[in-house]
Amino acid sequence: MFRAVGYRRPLKAWIESNPSLLTALEVTAEHFFDNQDTLYELREGYPISVHGLGLSLGSEVAIAQDVLENFRKVADAANAEWISEHLAFTRTKEADLGHLNPVISNRRNLEKIRDRCRHVMDFCQRPLLLENITTHINLPGELGEAEFLNELCEQAQISTLLDITNLFINSRNHRFDPFDWIRQLNPKHIKQVHLVGYSKQGNKFFDNHGSAIQSELWDIFEFVINYATIDCAIIERDLNLPAIEELETDLKKMKTLSANL
Ligand SMILES: [Fe+2]
Repeated sequence: MFRAVGYRRPLKAWIESNPSLLTALEVTAEHFFDNQDTLYELREGYPISVHGLGLSLGSEVAIAQDVLENFRKVADAANAEWISEHLAFTRTKEADLGHLNPVISNRRNLEKIRDRCRHVMDFCQRPLLLENITTHINLPGELGEAEFLNELCEQAQISTLLDITNLFINSRNHRFDPFDWIRQLNPKHIKQVHLVGYSKQGNKFFDNHGSAIQSELWDIFEFVINYATIDCAIIERDLNLPAIEELETDLKKMKTLSANL
């Protein structure tokens, strides 16, 4: 299992020093739409996963061709081992909403997103993974979220990027058991995980991507790596960087927990 962090500029010097705990990287596609120079350096040291925020696979409107072309340009420059996006939409006919919104889990959306996933994979010629997001509303659907992901993976021949922090946050805010949720996923489809500490205000949990990984999240991580064969585990820290010590502590924990797999 590769151990990765999300590439952020404050981490550049540390990443370029090739710390032995770090064995892969994730880069955010949109950060490199205008300039891919850094990717040619990073790809020399690490296998890279290119993670998109704006393909908006769940939109009413089609994938924007310019966004898809930029996404492919980044994947090519990084020589991406994997590409990933969210089970979400960010654009409507009228506006770019600028954040990830949940998709109703019905058959119509399943077919639409399945076809778009196939198109993205054909266009980029790399394996695609889709990630579960956090949501503050509960949307009714014909399928459960896990069932929807299973069907998508089966029909489009993609994999699931299980964001453990997003799942934990949803499980607390919407009161369900995260372990039961994972057991509904077919383990053969789960190939990557995201992890980062959560934050809490009052009774609500949030994904601010700004702290070390808490113990409840490690419990889920340990369960997942024994339930499925994970190719790459990624720490997705955006705030309070560089935080090298915390990242190294978390990478070490990841290594210890996965040592006997
Ligand atoms: Fe994530």
